Amino acid sequence: MKIATLAALVASVPAVSAQLHALAKNAGLLYFGTAVGPGDSRDAPYYALSNDIKNFGQYTPDNAQKWDATEPQRGRFQYTQADAIVNRAIANKMIMRCHTLVWYSQLPSWVSSGSWTKDTMTSVMQTHISNVMGHFKSKCYAWDVVNEALEDNGTYRNNPFLKALGDSYFALSFKFAAAADPDTKLYYNDYNLEYFPVKADGAVRIVKLVQAAGVPIHGVGLQAHMTVGRTPSRSNLTWTLEKYTSLGLDVAYTELDVRIKPLPSNSSSLQAQAKEYEAIVGSCLDVPRCVGITVWGFGDAHSWIPQTFPGAGDSCLFDKNSKPKPAFSSVSAILASASGKRVPWGSKPTSLVSATSVVATSAPVVQTTVVMLPSKTSTKVAVTSVA
Ligand code: G3I
Repeated sequence: MKIATLAALVASVPAVSAQLHALAKNAGLLYFGTAVGPGDSRDAPYYALSNDIKNFGQYTPDNAQKWDATEPQRGRFQYTQADAIVNRAIANKMIMRCHTLVWYSQLPSWVSSGSWTKDTMTSVMQTHISNVMGHFKSKCYAWDVVNEALEDNGTYRNNPFLKALGDSYFALSFKFAAAADPDTKLYYNDYNLEYFPVKADGAVRIVKLVQAAGVPIHGVGLQAHMTVGRTPSRSNLTWTLEKYTSLGLDVAYTELDVRIKPLPSNSSSLQAQAKEYEAIVGSCLDVPRCVGITVWGFGDAHSWIPQTFPGAGDSCLFDKNSKPKPAFSSVSAILASASGKRVPWGSKPTSLVSATSVVATSAPVVQTTVVMLPSKTSTKVAVTSVA
C-alpha cells in the first residue's frame, strides 16, 4: 500500500484511534515514548494521554533525574520526583529511559563552581553515578550516561569534567555506569548530530574512546530537536544513524520535536512539519538497530521550545488542547506502513512489571542478527571488561 494512501486512511479516521506505541511495536521498534514531568498532571487530557500505553510505551523524566535534582548538595541524594515518574511507568507497564548522569547543564553549583583535581572529580562522578544508578537499578532500560559533550563544530564542550579529567571522563563515566547497573543500556546522547556531520563525527570519536578503553557503550541517542524547513532528508538521517550502528551500537531518537517559526503556524507549516516528522520516524524504521523514538513532550502547551526559542513553537504531535495534529497522522501512517517489516525487538516484553524487577530484555541479541544489518555495517563490538 502506498504511503499516501495510508496517510489518507489514517487521516480519515479519528486520529486518536491510531496508537503510536502499538504501531511502533508492530513496526518492530521497542517503543514510542515521551518525556514526562511533574507539571503534566495539571492538564487532565494531556495527563490521560500520557498514561495511555497504546500511545506511549516509554517515559523519560524531563528533569527529575538530573544532577541538580538528585544530588543538590554533595552526598545528599533525593529521588522523590523521579520515583514518582518511575512508579508511574511501572504502574502503566512502560519502559523507562533514564536521563541523565554526566552533563554540563543543570549541575548544582557545588559541582559547577567547585575546584576539582583529577582525583576529586573522579570520586565525585563515581559517587553520583553509583548512587543514582544504584537507586534505579534494573528499572531503566537505558541510561543517557554522558549528555551533550560536544560543541556543534565537533570539539569537546568545556565543562567541569573535561577540565579536571580531559577526555578520559568519557570512558570513566561509562565504566562507573556499567559497574552500577550492568543490565542497562548505556548511551551517549546529544543534539544536532542530525544537522552537523562534524558533530556526528565527534560522537563517533567519543564512542571509539570508550570502546578503546574496553568499557561498555551500547547506544547513541540522537535528540532530534529539529526545525521545520531545516530537517535533513530521510536518507541523510539514515546515513547519520548508520555511523553509529556500524560501530556495533544501537541508536534511538531520544528527544524528538520539530519546531515551527514563525508563529502562528498555519496549514502549510503544519503539513511541512508532518512531512519532517515522517522523515525522522522513517529513518529510524530504515535502520535495524534503531530501538525506538521518544518525543520531548507531545503537546504544544507543554513544550520547552517557546521559552528557549522565542518566536518558535507548535513543535509537538498534539496541539495546545491535546488534539492530534497532521504530524500525528503522518507518524501513525509511516509506522503503520512498516507493520511486520522489521524483526521485532526481542520476543520477550521489556516493560517494567513490578517495582523491583524488570523482565529480562533479550532485545539487542535479536536486533544484532547479522541478516538484518546492511552489508557495510559490522556486528556487535565485543566489550568484555571494565578497565
Ligand atoms: O526548578 C526551577 C524552579 O525552582 C524555578 O522556580 C523555575 C523558574 O524558571 O525554574 C525551574 O527550573 C527550570 C527547570 O527546567 C525545571 O523546570 C529551568 O528554569 C529550566 O531552564 C529547565 O529547563 C529544562 C532544560 O532541559 C534545561 O536545560 C527543560 O525543562 C527540559 O525539558 C530540558 O531538557 C533538555 C534535555 O534534558 C537535554 N536536551 C535538551 C532538552 C531541552 O533543553
